[in-house]
Amino acid sequence: REDGSAPGATEKFLEQFYENDGKGTVMTSDAGMPMEDQNSLKAGERGPTMLEDFIFRQKIQHFDHERVPERAVHARGAGAHGVFTSYGDYSNITAASFLCGKGKETPVFVRFSTVAGSRGSADTARDVHGFATRFYTDEGNFDIVGNNIPVFFIQDAIKFPDLVHSVKPNPDSEIPQAATAHDTAWDFFSQQPSTLNTLFWAMAGNGIVRSYRHMDGFGVHTFRLVTDDGKSKLVKWHWKTLQGKASLVWEEAQVAAGKNADMHRQDLFDSIKEGKFPEWELGVQIMEESDQLRFGFDLLDPTKFVPEELVPVTPIGKMTLNLNPKNYFAETEQIMFQPGHIVRGIDFTEDPLLQGRLFSYLDTQLNRNGGPNFEQIPINRPRVPIHNNNRDGAGQMYIPLNNAAYTPNTLNDGSPQQANQTVNNGFFTAPGRTVTGKLLRAVSSTFADVWSQPRLFYNSLVPVEQQFLINAIRFETSHIQSSVVKQNVVIQLNRVDNDLAKRVARVIGVAPPAPDPKFYNNNKTDFVSIFSKPLLKI
Ligand code: HEM
Repeated sequence: REDGSAPGATEKFLEQFYENDGKGTVMTSDAGMPMEDQNSLKAGERGPTMLEDFIFRQKIQHFDHERVPERAVHARGAGAHGVFTSYGDYSNITAASFLCGKGKETPVFVRFSTVAGSRGSADTARDVHGFATRFYTDEGNFDIVGNNIPVFFIQDAIKFPDLVHSVKPNPDSEIPQAATAHDTAWDFFSQQPSTLNTLFWAMAGNGIVRSYRHMDGFGVHTFRLVTDDGKSKLVKWHWKTLQGKASLVWEEAQVAAGKNADMHRQDLFDSIKEGKFPEWELGVQIMEESDQLRFGFDLLDPTKFVPEELVPVTPIGKMTLNLNPKNYFAETEQIMFQPGHIVRGIDFTEDPLLQGRLFSYLDTQLNRNGGPNFEQIPINRPRVPIHNNNRDGAGQMYIPLNNAAYTPNTLNDGSPQQANQTVNNGFFTAPGRTVTGKLLRAVSSTFADVWSQPRLFYNSLVPVEQQFLINAIRFETSHIQSSVVKQNVVIQLNRVDNDLAKRVARVIGVAPPAPDPKFYNNNKTDFVSIFSKPLLKI
């Protein structure tokens, strides 16, 4: 460490990755030959370069291949290493080993991001923000691939390409929506009103955060925690910033985008460098399996949050980010988070958005990495040994020594044995999960009400916060060129709140709408309080 103190848990964990650190006394080629690489090999002092100059070819060829495809979404981001400390032994609700010991430390890597912009976009563009955490647990890697908003725009992953195509830069000019027209994004939002809840959170301060350090994080979907004796509970993951939540105002965000487009990544990097380590508490809202439809909405619907008044957040640990990456590409760019990275004691739910994500991340990462061995890259490598019969492919970094790379085998040459599958009726799956049903392509009727929660959120804001949100919607929608899209936006806002719709309509040239009682009568804010039965204790 620069201050001479002994390395902490995070640094010790990383030591193994810095063996080949690029430093050395004599420069060598990639094949290990000492070399000089400042002048190409020419035929005569003023002559052409020789094709046989393998030193030139290797250097230029490596440079030509320096870039890999950026992430399809969340391309712009910044990351840091840290440590997670469990507050207690929670083996009464989960078998996940990193939560089964008071004070137990687990190394983590976090990557914060925006969603729509390319890798070179400005940090302060108004957007949902990614908050992805990798726990390098002693039973494998566990990722919470979340956002700074507790809900998502859509209820089925099959709509994700539609959502992303609507918010990405215009296909003809590659100019971001914010700079010219906003027609495609708001056309989609108004045609797909499941987006309203997330949209409201983004138009409130969560879209233009003060810094990555000042934002909360959410796992969004409902997950399951499972104990070794097969009991399961439903949970929502929460990261609560201990720096306090804060956002910019729009004028600041615009100035910052021009003056320092790297504002957020610089804030994170500098804070950690200066020893001001940002911290978050991990919390869970814990619910019974039988509570899935208890609150007036469906816990499988990712466009709904569970109000903390109904189910309080129980803090279970603290994360401290205390070490900057040493190489942005090798660490922050090459980390491959997946919602499918779970460990024993944690299970999925049938949320159709989560189910689709389980396919998408692995698929896109095969494209991003050019092959199936990206889990072997230092930043992705679990901290436990890997033994299986996966073989070959681009970038294979392990050297398997057992010839019987198949199961079952009787050759006894060190091939790995199957892990004990008797626990939990199969290694991961909560025993209570059963799946039956007629095949259909339809949204669940329990997902139908998409207006009550944005109304609940809007009503929870104090007047100045409501004005902040209205100003943001006014600013963004005033860039819409199509009068039909403007009208459709007001129709949807009016289903949330008539006063809100009128205040926006007035500014964007749409006739103020009359109240739409059909929707307010359907107001499901009379949720059954969980306090009516004893709180779940952990
Ligand atoms: C990347 C969050 C929904 C596809 C990411 C990242 C985050 C995130 C935080 C960046 C990870 C990183 O820093 O490397 C979420 C959340 C969602 C959601 C919270 C909803 C609850 C979806 C859906 C799909 C999807 C429905 C597709 C069906 C992707 C892809 C990437 C990505 C392709 C790029 C991954 C990579 O190249 O490594 N998402 N996402 N996401 N997401 Fe999502």
